[in-house]
Amino acid sequence: MASEPVLSLAELENIALDRVNKITREYWTNGAGDNSTVQENKVAFNRYRIRPRALRNVQNIDMSTSVLGQRVSLPIGIAPSGWHKMANPVGEAGTARAAKALGTMVAVSMGTAMGSTPADVCSPEEVKSAGGSAVKFFQLYVFRNREYTRQLLRRVENAGYGAVMLTVDTAHVGRRISEIRNRPNMPHFLRTISFGSQLQKENPDSADFTIDASLEWNEIIPWLRRNTKMQIWLKGILSGDDAELAVKHKVDGLIVSNHGGRQLDACIASVDALPEVVRAVRGAVPVHMDGGIRKGSDVFRALALGAAYVWIGRPALWGLAYDGERGVELVLKILQEELKICMGLAGCSSTKQINASFLVQARDAML
Ligand SMILES: Cc1cc2nc3c(=O)[nH]c(=O)nc-3n(C[C@H](O)[C@H](O)[C@H](O)COP(=O)(O)O)c2cc1C
Repeated sequence: MASEPVLSLAELENIALDRVNKITREYWTNGAGDNSTVQENKVAFNRYRIRPRALRNVQNIDMSTSVLGQRVSLPIGIAPSGWHKMANPVGEAGTARAAKALGTMVAVSMGTAMGSTPADVCSPEEVKSAGGSAVKFFQLYVFRNREYTRQLLRRVENAGYGAVMLTVDTAHVGRRISEIRNRPNMPHFLRTISFGSQLQKENPDSADFTIDASLEWNEIIPWLRRNTKMQIWLKGILSGDDAELAVKHKVDGLIVSNHGGRQLDACIASVDALPEVVRAVRGAVPVHMDGGIRKGSDVFRALALGAAYVWIGRPALWGLAYDGERGVELVLKILQEELKICMGLAGCSSTKQINASFLVQARDAML
């Protein structure tokens, strides 16, 4: 049982990472290459400073917004990440219950459909029934075996999911040094990094279960449309040009993301890519972001730069390791409290009032 009073995600990170083994710690913490993108995601936030306004009646602070037409009480959800049972046996179902308790959303990783045993993961159906209205987004990689993907789409649509979040930054898996080094001692489901070979082992007769690196706009978006009624969102958009293409191909929403620095090394920080994407989209579809959100003031800065909603990746895993679903609730409550104070002190009584006029860009950043 947790006993330390934890007042920030930085404190929680230290406690949680002390409690897990080296392989888990490195799997969660490290990114691609020399971790420069992991660092940049955090440093970039600090280059934006908040310029508060005075005397604007901030007695009541409304942090609610809407996602997929549904009212959520917080502009903060939990990004898809694999293998929550490495953190705590409650797994993805516990994460989903925590998101529901706080009145927000969790996006469910495709890993939930790929464990070999219930000890590895909660199934997409289990997570949906645990989280109810908090569980709408299912994250997808498209494998070279399209029939597998087609069946998976049908499966999650039947389970009640409303949106597929196609991750577009993983044509190849990023070169994560510690994962390569730790691979021989990793749990079996992690050992292959790209999910493919695990499935191939289970289905020796089937064709290719690795991520399809040949995807292109003109083919994959219409194919998804033909094969699901769910909304189609793209996760991993980092340029205005791609944002324009996404709108042209009638996708339903975008997540500005560099996969928490785990994919392209030396990649632009998510928050730095956000304004360009927001400008290119011109309000046609909602723009969300993830990457490096660790404080309520980070959420404020992302919203000021045009994000409608933000997602947190690693902090949810720290929360789970710290105290199961209550730990995930704690993460969301800390961010909620910090955002509320940040909005109040900046002079915003609702998320609708947060805009770029509240930010100035500093030349240097400190961590
Ligand atoms: C351990 C771990 C596993 C992840 N697994 C997935 C995944 O299966 N699919 C995916 O699209 N993104 C995955 N991500 C990326 C997250 O969805 C998200 O983009 C990223 O963690 C956000 O950055 P943050 O951790 O700084 O908040 C994973 C991230 C981590 C840390």
